[in-house]
Amino acid sequence: MIKPHGADALIPLFVSDAEQHKALTAEAETLPSLLVSSAAAANAVMLGAGYFTPLKGYMNLADSLAVAKDLCTTDGLFWPVPIVNLSKDAQGITAGQRIALRDPNVEGNPVLAIMDVEAVETVSAEQIDFMAENIFGTLDEKHPGVQTFKGQGNTLLSGPIQVLNFSYFQADFPETFRTAVEIRNEIAERGWNKVVAFQTRNPMHRAHEELCRMAMDDLGTDGILIHMLLGQLKPGDIPAHVRDASIRKMVDVYFPKNTVMITGYGFDMLYAGPREAVLHALFRQNCGCTHLIVGRDHAGVGDYYGGFDAQTIFDEKVPAGAMDIEIYRADHTAYSKKLDKVVMMRDAPDHEKEDFVLLSGTKVREMLGAGIAPPPEFSRPEVAKILMDYYQIEDAKA
Ligand code: ADX
Repeated sequence: MIKPHGADALIPLFVSDAEQHKALTAEAETLPSLLVSSAAAANAVMLGAGYFTPLKGYMNLADSLAVAKDLCTTDGLFWPVPIVNLSKDAQGITAGQRIALRDPNVEGNPVLAIMDVEAVETVSAEQIDFMAENIFGTLDEKHPGVQTFKGQGNTLLSGPIQVLNFSYFQADFPETFRTAVEIRNEIAERGWNKVVAFQTRNPMHRAHEELCRMAMDDLGTDGILIHMLLGQLKPGDIPAHVRDASIRKMVDVYFPKNTVMITGYGFDMLYAGPREAVLHALFRQNCGCTHLIVGRDHAGVGDYYGGFDAQTIFDEKVPAGAMDIEIYRADHTAYSKKLDKVVMMRDAPDHEKEDFVLLSGTKVREMLGAGIAPPPEFSRPEVAKILMDYYQIEDAKA
């Protein structure tokens, strides 16, 4: 099986030993507390679940700057995005302390993890901008990722953590949330060798569905891991429980049994386009996948990234041998009226734009809100029904 990134085995930071867990939970109540940002909490969940192997905790300033600039820690570990705990509320916390990290996303702010604080560093406004610009390719405050990153504060707490739970993800998505350890184990149990991952934060329309099928056929995989983001999104994106229901329905009706694992991970969307695509590849390698589908505007938002920047970054910024997982490069995919099937545009060079069924996100939203199903060439009717029900409830509330 493909090895985890930078380690021989996964390093989940969740404390699985029951005795130790009990002792740490009791200790946490005696420690100074820090209510962390949602982004820092999501990092803890990913670290706890083994997705961010081989990291042992939050990065310090030198590593964060090095990763932002060169996708590499000061120790030479390939890593595409700083994994940080930036805070506005860290007054009184000093290096050498053990502290309890409290969860901003769960009622009552329970302890999510215990941290051994190795350093407390003040990040200058220039350093925050340097990181944001390298991660997101822009400093535009309208970019949702830049907004979140710059809104977290400028005190950087670094050091190892021990994770006590998976925030709201296990309770809210019991059928779907999986750790990297669980996914790796299930892939091994199924006896799959070649596995392609599909990253998504959207319900799956025909183009997504066929993209998965094309990747499976072209690569000759044993199966596909549909791996959806379950964390925070920008306003207007479709909530995870609606996506989950529509994806499950689509797979149930249209995919052969035992070829698909439907799973999710607890992380907030960064909207970092190319950099996030590299992070996506890295943590799918940790899940045991050999390939990741990267299509058009992967992890993008607005017009901040070129349609295929998330593919070219793998040629430009990922040194040979930095990761073992490979990407499956997909072109813009849509339904061809001429060929009466979903195709990649590069495979239909004689087509004009009008030969494809192309609908903007806004148009689709309007149709669903009005109770009109998008054409079957765009959405499966079963998927359209779930989305129409959601949008009609939403629009009634508005
Ligand atoms: S993402 O933010 O999680 O990347 P989304 O769920 O929309 O957003 O996309 C999932 C994957 O499908 C990404 O790799 C994206 O590039 C790809 N994709 C989505 N729509 C298309 C399309 N019409 N053509 C090609 N690739 C697509």
